[in-house]
Amino acid sequence: MPVVPNGRVLFKEIPNGYPIPGKTTAYDETQTIDTDNVPLEGGFLVKILVISVDPYLRAKMRDPRIKMFTEAFIIGESLYNWAVGVVIRSEYEGVKVGDYINGTLPFQHYAIFKDMNELEILDNTEKLPLSLYVGVAGMPGRSSYYGWKEFSSAKKGDTIFVSGGAGPVGSMVIQFAKAEGLRIIASAGSDDKIKFIKSLGADVVFNYKITKTADILKKEGPIDIYWDNVGGETLEAALDNASMGARFIECGMISGYNESQYPIHNLFRIIACQLKLFGFLNTDPYLHEKYDDNFRQEIPKLLANGELQYTEHFTYGLENAPKALLDVQVGNNLGKSVIVVAEE
Ligand SMILES: NC(=O)c1ccc[n+]([C@@H]2O[C@H](COP(=O)([O-])OP(=O)(O)OC[C@H]3O[C@@H](n4cnc5c(N)ncnc54)[C@H](OP(=O)(O)O)[C@@H]3O)[C@@H](O)[C@H]2O)c1
Repeated sequence: MPVVPNGRVLFKEIPNGYPIPGKTTAYDETQTIDTDNVPLEGGFLVKILVISVDPYLRAKMRDPRIKMFTEAFIIGESLYNWAVGVVIRSEYEGVKVGDYINGTLPFQHYAIFKDMNELEILDNTEKLPLSLYVGVAGMPGRSSYYGWKEFSSAKKGDTIFVSGGAGPVGSMVIQFAKAEGLRIIASAGSDDKIKFIKSLGADVVFNYKITKTADILKKEGPIDIYWDNVGGETLEAALDNASMGARFIECGMISGYNESQYPIHNLFRIIACQLKLFGFLNTDPYLHEKYDDNFRQEIPKLLANGELQYTEHFTYGLENAPKALLDVQVGNNLGKSVIVVAEE
């Protein structure tokens, strides 16, 4: 192969609000790579195939002096996230041409790695589409599995409310709850999303942009479990409609990622209803140690045999990544957002 452009998506500027395509992040094609001859210096060359677009990436678009649960992106450098690529050359022991690499990869067409730090060779026994390994068989799937197993204390007949129901996290939680015989209330922000979560078996579904969450929960509650993907006013409504001893699984608060956090007025309900609130991160080594083997054994099989459903939202071409990064914050994705950088 001749020398080819090695397009990248760069972090350009810290956003004030939603990330702006071309301003916050931008596609750059100034670098080239000679894929046949570039020196590997004992490492391996990966052609990147699919990259995940996740809500938490907004937290990386910040001033690095502010400490958070995840490192900040560096201005002028490529973004990076969960991804899958294929090895096209290797001088590294244990990594061979044709291996699929799963882990943190840059928003680039090609990248050279010196070691397997934060990477693994993908074991795709079930022959799933590679994109699932950044979605329901990857980080978002793990997050739903870990959180559900550790914190739900679900009992048949319990009522659960799941916000952000149509994404990879919410849709997996709905299916876990369904399998355990819970009554499910779930919300999302468009008719297509509502249709999807209804198809997963949710009993009460609603578009929170049209119907007030507080009204639905008043009518259909009280709730015994709240799986929170959005925070803000939705969390406030869930607090108002919680049963005694309800479990609140605090997974995400996307309503405050790009806009200021809504001030919640009824936190005393935590005491009055003896609620149990669990905030968690999928990166928690304790949860990983406890649940990852089971996740790997169970979930790919259930996806392969169709017992677990999913939808994916593909953006084709790395040059379109800046828009995809905005779309997932705004809600223009129906299902797991994935950038298809290259076909195999
Ligand atoms: N704790 C962890 O380790 C962990 C791991 C993974 C993900 N998460 C969190 O879990 C949540 C879901 O992640 P995901 O990957 O499944 O995302 P996702 O649902 O694919 O995408 C995010 C969705 O959030 C919704 N949204 C945006 N602004 C909103 C608002 N103001 N109010 C209500 N909904 C809003 C949009 O859908 P609508 O059209 O429905 O508005 C959007 O599509 C996120 O908060 C994420 O940060 C946490």
